Amino acid sequence: MATAVKLKEITKRFPGVLANDSIDLEVAAGEIHAIVGENGAGKSTLMKILAGLYQPDAGEISIFDRAQMINSPARAIELKIGMVHQHFMLIPRFTVLDNIMLGAERRQGIMLDSRLARQEVTALCRQYNFSLELDKPVGEISVGQSQRVEILKVLYRGADILVLDEPTAVLAPQEVKELFHNLRRLKEAGKTIIFISHKLDEVLDIADRVTVLRKGRVVGTATADSVSKSDLAQMMVGRPVVQTIEKPEVSIGDIVLSIQELTVQEAEGKAVLNELSLEVYGGEIYGVAGIEGNGQKELAETVIGLQQPTAGHIMVSGNNINGLSVAEIRNLGVAYISEDRHRQGLILPMKVWENMILGLQRRRFYRRPGLEIKAAQEFAREKVKEYSISLSSVQQQVENLSGGNQQKVILARELAAQPTVIVAAQPTRGLDIGAAEFVHRQLLAKRASGCAILFISADLDEVLSLSDRVGVIYNGRIVAEFRPQEVTAQELGVYMLGGNKKAGGVA
Ligand SMILES: Nc1ncnc2c1ncn2[C@@H]1O[C@H](COP(=O)(O)OP(=O)(O)OP(=O)(O)O)[C@@H](O)[C@H]1O
Ligand SMILES: [Mg+2]
Repeated sequence: MATAVKLKEITKRFPGVLANDSIDLEVAAGEIHAIVGENGAGKSTLMKILAGLYQPDAGEISIFDRAQMINSPARAIELKIGMVHQHFMLIPRFTVLDNIMLGAERRQGIMLDSRLARQEVTALCRQYNFSLELDKPVGEISVGQSQRVEILKVLYRGADILVLDEPTAVLAPQEVKELFHNLRRLKEAGKTIIFISHKLDEVLDIADRVTVLRKGRVVGTATADSVSKSDLAQMMVGRPVVQTIEKPEVSIGDIVLSIQELTVQEAEGKAVLNELSLEVYGGEIYGVAGIEGNGQKELAETVIGLQQPTAGHIMVSGNNINGLSVAEIRNLGVAYISEDRHRQGLILPMKVWENMILGLQRRRFYRRPGLEIKAAQEFAREKVKEYSISLSSVQQQVENLSGGNQQKVILARELAAQPTVIVAAQPTRGLDIGAAEFVHRQLLAKRASGCAILFISADLDEVLSLSDRVGVIYNGRIVAEFRPQEVTAQELGVYMLGGNKKAGGVA
C-alpha cells in the first residue's frame, strides 16, 4: 500500500523541552492511524508540523513518497492535508454553509458563487452521509454537528489526509458512534485519517494501527487488533497502570450546596438555566451528565459567582451567595475547576508558579510586607512533582504547556485550597489515563474529607464510576436523577439527547 505520510527523524525543540525527538512515523494511505501518549508527549506538536503550523528543527516529511517542505498551513492544504483542531474555530453567527466556505470561497468573476458552493457542499454531505442544515447559524447546532462542519470544511478544501486532534473529548456516546461511522465512510472513500485521543477504548475501536509516543519519542507502532488497552497504557507511561478505582463508603453529611429553581436568562431572553434544582451533601459527588451546551457552563459559573441568576438561589453551607463576588464565594470555601482553561482558570502569559498560587496568595503566601516568592515557588515545585506536570521550570509561561499540563496546574491549585465545595467542570478533559486516575483519586480524597463535589462531565464512564448520584442536564434543567448502579451509559445518553423527559428515580 502507498504511504500517505512519512515522517523521518522529525525533531522539534522548544526552550527547555525536546517536544519531538527524532520521530519516525509512517501512515499508510487509506488507514486510520491513532496517536496516543501522555500529556506533553508531543502529539499536537507533531501534527502541527504536518499541518504547517510549526517548522521542525530537523527531519524530513514525505507526502505520497515525495519529499515536501510544509512551511505554512496554505502549503499543507495544497498537499491535501487538513487538520481539525480540538477547539472549534467556527463563527457562531454565520451559517453552516458560510463557515464551510469561509477562506475557500468559490468565485465567478468577482462575485462569490455561493450557489456552486452550496451544490458542492450538498454533494459532499450526500457522499459521506452527513446530515446538516446548511442555513442554520452554527451557534444553534450541537457540538457533534459543529464537528461535522469542521470535517466538511477540511473536505471542502480537498483534503485527503485528515488530522483530528482529540475529536471525541466533547462528544456524547451516540455522537462518538456517529463520528466513527463518518470516519469509516471517509476511509472507505480512500481518505487517510490520523486520530489523536486519550480514550484507549475508542482508539482500539476505530484505528487500524496505533503509534505510542512517550516524552517526544516513538515507543512503537502496533496494529489495533494485536494490542490491549493495558498494553497501550503501559507503553504510554512505561509501567503498568491501575485501571480500577476503589470508591470507599463515606458517611454523608448535611446539604452543603443547595441550588433551588435557578434560572439564568441570556440577553435575548432565552433561559440557559431553567428552574434548575439540585442539592449536594457533604461527602458526596454529584455528577452532572449532559451534552455540552445544555447549561453546564452557566451552572458552574453561577455557583462561583461569574454569572448572576435571574431567579432562584444558591446556598453554600447555609449562606445565600446571590450577589456575592467571586472572591467572597471562594472565601466561603468554593473551589472551581474551569473547563475553559484558556479564558478562566489561568493567566496564560504568566509563569507557572504565579498561576499556581492565584487566589491562594492571601491565605498562604501573603505575609507582610509582601508575597513570599521563595515559598510560593517552592509550593509550585511541590505541586509540579505531585501532579507530574511536565515542564522545564516553574518560571515557564503557562501558555507553553501542553493542553493536559495546563489543566493539571488548575487542579493542583484548586484542590490545594481545602475547599468545602468543589465545582469541577470537565476536570479530566484532555488528561491522559494516568493523570485522569490521579484526579479521580484526588476528588475521592476530598469526598472522604466531607467536601461536596459538583462534578460536571461529558464522559459518562467517568460520571458513573465516580458519582454517588447522577443528574442529567438537558435544556437548562435536571431532567432525571439516578444512583449510578441503577443506570447505564446508554440510558443516560438517551436522556442527554432529550429523548425521555420523564424524571427518573429521584434519590
Ligand atoms: N509553543 C510552545 N512553546 C514552548 N513549549 C511548547 C510549545 N508547544 C508545546 N510545547 C511543549 O512541548 C511538549 C509537547 O507538547 P504537545 O502539546 O505536543 O503535547 P501533547 O502530546 O499534545 O499533550 P496533551 O495530551 O496534553 O495535549 C510539552 O512539554 C509542551 O510544554
Ligand atoms: Mg495535545
